Amino acid sequence: MRLVMLGAPGVGKGTQGRRLAAVCGCALISTGEILREAAARGTALGLEARRQMDSGRLVDDDVMVGLVRERTSEPDAQEGFVLDGFPRTVPQAEALDAMLAARGQQIDVVLSITVNEDELIRRLQGRRECPVCKRAYNPEGAPARDGRHCDEHPDAELRPRKDDSEESVRQRFAEFQAKTAPLVAYYAVGGRLRAVAGTGTVDEVFETLQREAGCGSRTAQTN
Ligand code: AP5
Ligand code: MG
Repeated sequence: MRLVMLGAPGVGKGTQGRRLAAVCGCALISTGEILREAAARGTALGLEARRQMDSGRLVDDDVMVGLVRERTSEPDAQEGFVLDGFPRTVPQAEALDAMLAARGQQIDVVLSITVNEDELIRRLQGRRECPVCKRAYNPEGAPARDGRHCDEHPDAELRPRKDDSEESVRQRFAEFQAKTAPLVAYYAVGGRLRAVAGTGTVDEVFETLQREAGCGSRTAQTN
């Protein structure tokens, strides 16, 4: 199963992508996460990407396509993957289709999640992440057990993401509208698109996504 999670900043791509990958038994590939790790390690890619990410702008298509080409070739992705944050532009989507076609593969389902902007801003303002496993928490809707530390890593204090500042969030929404929203029309052709409302509890949204994706019947943990 090869899935794409599509949606604006804060709709829950990461939260739900983790759970879907677990129930589908495939790799979770989060391009934002890969870039943030590269930035933290100070690699050439990371340093190049950091400035774009912190200001809320997209990283170049060529860089992203190369990164996904490599990551999807790794052994854990051979049974399938959930893409969180890629593709994000029409050229990225075209490159992905071509890359998979050359391997005799394809994207099976694109889950397009929508949530109204006021709710998205509330979610991003409240988001805190575990520095170890990167799981996202939120006081409203996805609280940590003790409110301050990761449930799985009790020594890890939750912290905000750098690009969740007001200015960066505004830029990320603008980038989404201009460059990523057109992917809905791109994927509508060919019947791969499933539109899902991202409002409701994390568990409710997950149930709908799992049904639409048609994968796994086991219940995944909230992580
Ligand atoms: P990326 O990391 O992908 O950021 P994003 O798209 O802005 O999305 P977010 O991670 O902010 O939100 P999410 O949808 O994952 O929501 P989450 O589950 O955390 O990309 C970051 C940057 O990297 C980009 O800006 C760009 O610079 C670069 N980049 C990455 N990929 C790229 C590409 N392909 N091309 C070019 N550049 C690229 O949830 C949000 C919050 O809501 C959390 O606190 C969560 O706990 C809470 N929450 C989730 N679901 C619910 C619910 N149902 N009810 C209540 N709260 C909920
Ligand atoms: Mg995310």
